[in-house]
Amino acid sequence: MKVLVVGGGGREHALAWKVKQSPRCSELFIAPGNPGTAELGTNVAIKAEDIEGLLAFAVKEQVDLCIVGPEVPLADGITDRFQEKSIRCFGPSKAAAELEGSKVAMKEFLRRYNIPTAPFSIFDNAKAAHEYINQVGAPIVIKCDGLAAGKGVTVAQTEDEAHDAVAKIMEDHVFGEEAGKQVVIEEILRGEEISVFAFCDGHNAVLLDYAQDHKQAYDGDEGPNTGGMGAFTPAPNLLSAKDEDEVVRRIVVPTMNGLVKEERPFVGVLFLGLMVTNNGPKVIEYNVRFGDPECQPLMMRLETDILDIVDACIDGKLDDIELTWRDELAICVTLASGGYPGSYEKGKVISGLDATADDIVIFHAGTADKDGSICTSGGRVLSVCAFGDDVNSAREKVYAACDAIEFEGKHLRRDIGCREEARKQKA
Ligand code: AMP
Ligand code: GLY
Repeated sequence: MKVLVVGGGGREHALAWKVKQSPRCSELFIAPGNPGTAELGTNVAIKAEDIEGLLAFAVKEQVDLCIVGPEVPLADGITDRFQEKSIRCFGPSKAAAELEGSKVAMKEFLRRYNIPTAPFSIFDNAKAAHEYINQVGAPIVIKCDGLAAGKGVTVAQTEDEAHDAVAKIMEDHVFGEEAGKQVVIEEILRGEEISVFAFCDGHNAVLLDYAQDHKQAYDGDEGPNTGGMGAFTPAPNLLSAKDEDEVVRRIVVPTMNGLVKEERPFVGVLFLGLMVTNNGPKVIEYNVRFGDPECQPLMMRLETDILDIVDACIDGKLDDIELTWRDELAICVTLASGGYPGSYEKGKVISGLDATADDIVIFHAGTADKDGSICTSGGRVLSVCAFGDDVNSAREKVYAACDAIEFEGKHLRRDIGCREEARKQKA
């Protein structure tokens, strides 16, 4: 089977790494890929957003299956376009991907099916939004309707911050004219934030083992939000049995059924961003793809052939699949450029990539090959992953590997996995 993986980050390197292990994969392309994926298959210089370019390539090369990593091509309808040309594509249709592409559509969907979420209001003019903020006060959460590369949400502690967020979105249009036409203003939720992933075949959803991301830039969950500074899986103490039952019964099942009813069944990876509050789990957001970096440790532990899973999803036969996982815990630590998620310098030479021990896997994200030497080219540079019998042994191994890699300005969090250790001691 000829497989095309779309995207070029750590998530896509991990997906390509897993696809490559399948005996069913005869040829692997990654578009655009990165220096890490170049070791596994052929990188193709087409951007993930260039749907027509990707389609023309897939037709020419007679690609059998396309696996899409990032959200933008999904929101723009890549799956529908590939299907029109009879090429199998793993990811939701444009209509189903709207759950991530528009916060307004997402919140209205949650309301239609009575799925637990923060109470909210929708505004299509800035004046009314400002007046509402004056009325209800802070803290309050302001969300840009359209995709904003993870920067469209402000958890405002003060009214001034809330007004600023509305002005940026609706008056300055910093996320674009279309994305900023509407805002969602909602109540702040308090509790522990978790990610739940499910493979979906349109009707059925199978939950993956739990993974936990670490979004803030600095240790102790301090500092600005990032794309994700590290993750681990499994996290068996993340949800109580009662909360898990609620996630399935009140969130996953009504989501799948609601989309079927609306004739846009969900095929792909559904990623639920949840807040586990004192009143049970509530939906913060849907994403319509794997999380990055959660995907990296999940792929490390997944034993089932990913191509069998993907086929079963596309064919509506997920009932036939049993997910099996390696027993060990897998952990992933992001090595970032100094300054990330703010401005940072690029082009720093990376050393120590070769000197890795057994059971360490390094996925590339923001790297570039400059005349044979690997340099930094983005905010999140590498995802360093390790296995361990428990959190502590995995942490020991992964940080030894992180310390062996050097580049100027290297920044990482030292406390990935610590929350699981704390939960374990409480349990
Ligand atoms: P999103 O882009 O929707 O994932 O939101 C970004 C982040 O904002 C989430 O991961 C949460 O940490 C936070 N957030 C979003 N909505 C709320 C809310 N209603 N209450 C508290 N935090 C929130
Ligand atoms: N790790 C969070 C995300 O991929 O959105």
